[in-house]
Amino acid sequence: GLGLSRRDALRAGGGLIGAAGALALGARTARADPWTWSPSGSVVGSGGGADPLTVWDPEADPVIADVMDHQDIPRINNLLRTWVYNDQPIPDGLPQNMRDFMEYARQLPSWADEAKMAAGFEFNKKRGTYLGVLYAFASGMMANVIPHEARAVYYSRGGSHLKDRIAKTAKFGYDIGTVNAYQPGGEMIVTCVKTRIIHAAVRHLLPQSPHWPKEHTPISQDDKMVTWHSLATTIMRTFRTWNVQIPVAEAEGYLHTWQLAGHFLGIRDEYIPATWEQADAQAKQQLDPIIEATPEGIELAHNLMDLGFDLDLTLLSKPILGAFTRFILGDKIADDLRIAREPVWDPLLKFSWGPFVAVREGVMGVIPPTADATWLFDEFLRQFVLWYMAELRMPLSIEIPQTNR
Ligand code: HEM
Repeated sequence: GLGLSRRDALRAGGGLIGAAGALALGARTARADPWTWSPSGSVVGSGGGADPLTVWDPEADPVIADVMDHQDIPRINNLLRTWVYNDQPIPDGLPQNMRDFMEYARQLPSWADEAKMAAGFEFNKKRGTYLGVLYAFASGMMANVIPHEARAVYYSRGGSHLKDRIAKTAKFGYDIGTVNAYQPGGEMIVTCVKTRIIHAAVRHLLPQSPHWPKEHTPISQDDKMVTWHSLATTIMRTFRTWNVQIPVAEAEGYLHTWQLAGHFLGIRDEYIPATWEQADAQAKQQLDPIIEATPEGIELAHNLMDLGFDLDLTLLSKPILGAFTRFILGDKIADDLRIAREPVWDPLLKFSWGPFVAVREGVMGVIPPTADATWLFDEFLRQFVLWYMAELRMPLSIEIPQTNR
């Protein structure tokens, strides 16, 4: 069967938590306040307005549950591996209900806008060096203080194959920034539709884990938007904090690349914010109040900092990555994740990163940081890009999981 046996679960649970640390979802892990954000602020300007905590993915879920119960998943994964480009036909041999779903899910929405896509690419091209670091240490680290997400990841297969998972998530962040992300030769629509399928698979599998409360279906529409905000909104907020000046068209273009990603991931259009102002208002209700460290999140965060980045990349060591996390996400989150204080890098980032970015961005009248600080930061960014590119060189295929952790 697909279920994970108790013994497997015990064997896998070797970390901080172990088998005894069963979920306590009673804690305030989801938004407690009623949903008030209006669909009039969404990309489509209207909608039923149901609380997204009560909506999952009714188009994908029954199809994928049926496929997982009745089909040979390794065979399906082999076929999915051959599906790479947006304009490529759905591979022959997939079951009819899955093909129908994929055909439906790959259609561009009516509000897709080529000019905005092009502006989004401009943004990615100019900010690419920072974006990799931010996806990893703003968004990636924040994922560990989003209780629902940390728990879903921890108890799914990805929780015990973290390096693989990070590489696949990095591919998502890379694909979204490519010139033809959503166009015929691009790969982003395929990446998103596959991810939507994986999330449906997780909804089917996780409730079979002995660690998971049966009554809690993971990855609701609310959870998806929380993660969306941990990516798009958090990164835009960070750029604003750093005083990076972004032309309006490019900011809107970047938003558009994420609106489309949300749509292709199966987020309902009525929950996808139309503007950055709406995104920020939604995040204040959806993301900000639920940030909290859990035992699962703490363990994942430390695994992430310990990933054993290439040994030649000396600036990607745990203390420096910890300091970077503290700098971007603040003392509260860093302390909750039990990230150690770092006597050299904490103050260096605090006092010199702002001027470093300002000088890099060509802002006039800034006192530049010392040559040593500039060298260290340049080198940090360079090493990060090296690591990132090396990870992406491996062939990656987003596949339907068959087991939990
Ligand atoms: C898998 C991205 C939301 C939990 C994946 C994968 C990607 C991805 C690219 C495939 C990686 C792989 O195969 O290992 C995203 C994006 C999201 C989002 C861009 C929202 C904008 C969520 C949420 C949750 C979640 C809200 C949980 C609450 C998972 C889990 C997997 C997964 C458990 C299964 C793969 C594994 O770890 O074994 N996601 N995700 N994701 N995602 Fe998401």
